[in-house]
Amino acid sequence: MTFNSLSIHLLPVFVFVLSTVGVDAGAANPSYGLQDDYYRHSCPSAESVVRRVVMGNVTVVDNRKFAAGLLRLSFHDCFVEGCDASVLLYGPGTEKTAPVNKFLQSLEILDKAKQELEKICPGVVSCADILQYAARDGVIALNGSSWKVQGGRRDGRVSRAESAEKEIPSQDFDLDGLTASFKRKGLSRDQMVILSGAHTSAAGHCENLVRRLYNFNSTHATDPSIPAAYAAELKATCPRKTFNDTVFITMDAVSAFFDAGYYVTLEEHKGVFTSDQILFDDHRTRPLVKTLTDYKLFEKKFHQAMRAMAAIGVKLYDGEIRKDCRFINSY
Ligand code: HEM
Ligand SMILES: *[C@@H]1O[C@H](CO)[C@@H](O)[C@H](O)[C@H]1NC(C)=O
Ligand SMILES: *[C@@H]1O[C@H](CO)[C@@H](O)[C@H](O)[C@H]1NC(C)=O
Ligand SMILES: *[C@@H]1O[C@H](CO)[C@@H](O)[C@H](O)[C@H]1NC(C)=O
Ligand SMILES: *[C@@H]1O[C@H](CO)[C@@H](O)[C@H](O)[C@H]1NC(C)=O
Repeated sequence: MTFNSLSIHLLPVFVFVLSTVGVDAGAANPSYGLQDDYYRHSCPSAESVVRRVVMGNVTVVDNRKFAAGLLRLSFHDCFVEGCDASVLLYGPGTEKTAPVNKFLQSLEILDKAKQELEKICPGVVSCADILQYAARDGVIALNGSSWKVQGGRRDGRVSRAESAEKEIPSQDFDLDGLTASFKRKGLSRDQMVILSGAHTSAAGHCENLVRRLYNFNSTHATDPSIPAAYAAELKATCPRKTFNDTVFITMDAVSAFFDAGYYVTLEEHKGVFTSDQILFDDHRTRPLVKTLTDYKLFEKKFHQAMRAMAAIGVKLYDGEIRKDCRFINSY
């Protein structure tokens, strides 16, 4: 073989290898770390497709609640097995079946985004990334401002209900319990207070309030930190035993939009769950709650904290790019 014919044969191979490693990092290869605009070469419309599918749903009248559902999914995914879409897996005993995940919603929106992306960039965009982009887009739909969401997470193959029960903090936790839960994930107490601001557009179900309203402790049936008038209001909304899952309690008394109203609500002692009100009632976090009533400041801190949460335990080399967000791939 002459030198010329050798180089002719090898040249295209070198070009291919270089372009795969240097440019096409989002494709079938292992990830090279979380990055902004991660799919700019491998699937340039990835983020805009997710945005369009999310907006197509949550801007329909009465669908705004699904925007909040998307934001909650990012928390419930990242705290269990890392941000790897383990929360989306169907089947017996998966995270989805855990009581703490009973009221998760909006999963069909992610399915739709995944289906559209599989048509244009098959096997490229992970469900874990779609979930994080969609959470951001949900905030935008609620009139919040945008931030850069990194991509490059790969999807997990493990999902266990017990892990969700263990890792997702309870609405009955006090400050130390909440702080410990976030610290285990590498997040600070301040970040916990800031991320709780996601409840600015949230609603809760009566089931999760039963203990605080009717079964608090042996000396107080109702949590004495709830002002009497507000307790009466909550009890009227959630009558003991006869409540049902169609009733919602808004966690921000100010507005359903993405704003600083949640922290104002806490100042008014109208935090819905113990885990909300304790952020104001405990002297250690009260100063921060007061500062966060400034929306511009809250917004900036929230974006930073979301980027930190969205990086918890991400799979960069192991894991897979799921074909269907509800099921692990079969090989
Ligand atoms: C600090 C610890 C937290 C606790 C104890 C907690 C607890 C809860 C509870 C009990 C609900 C109501 C569920 C229901 O009854 O339907 C809820 C809703 C929600 N949470 Fe949290 N949460 C916490 C942190 C977070 C974080 C970090 C985020 C996101 C960044 C978040 C986002 C949401 C959203 C958006 C909803 C409303 C979901 C919907 O309407 O579908 N939460 N949370
Ligand atoms: C919007 O998303 C919700 C939750 O996933 C789903 O139940 C509903 O069918 C969707 N509606 C539209 C109009 O896409
Ligand atoms: C929506 O956001 C804009 C810009 O931050 C703000 O001026 C406006 O008051 C917000 N609207 C509502 C209804 O919250
Ligand atoms: C019940 O809760 C109240 C208010 O937090 C507290 O003062 C009281 O000591 C608690 N009672 C018991 C038996 O723990
Ligand atoms: C649930 O409660 C609401 C408000 O009390 C009521 O209007 C509705 O009919 C109830 N639904 C069911 C299925 O019981």
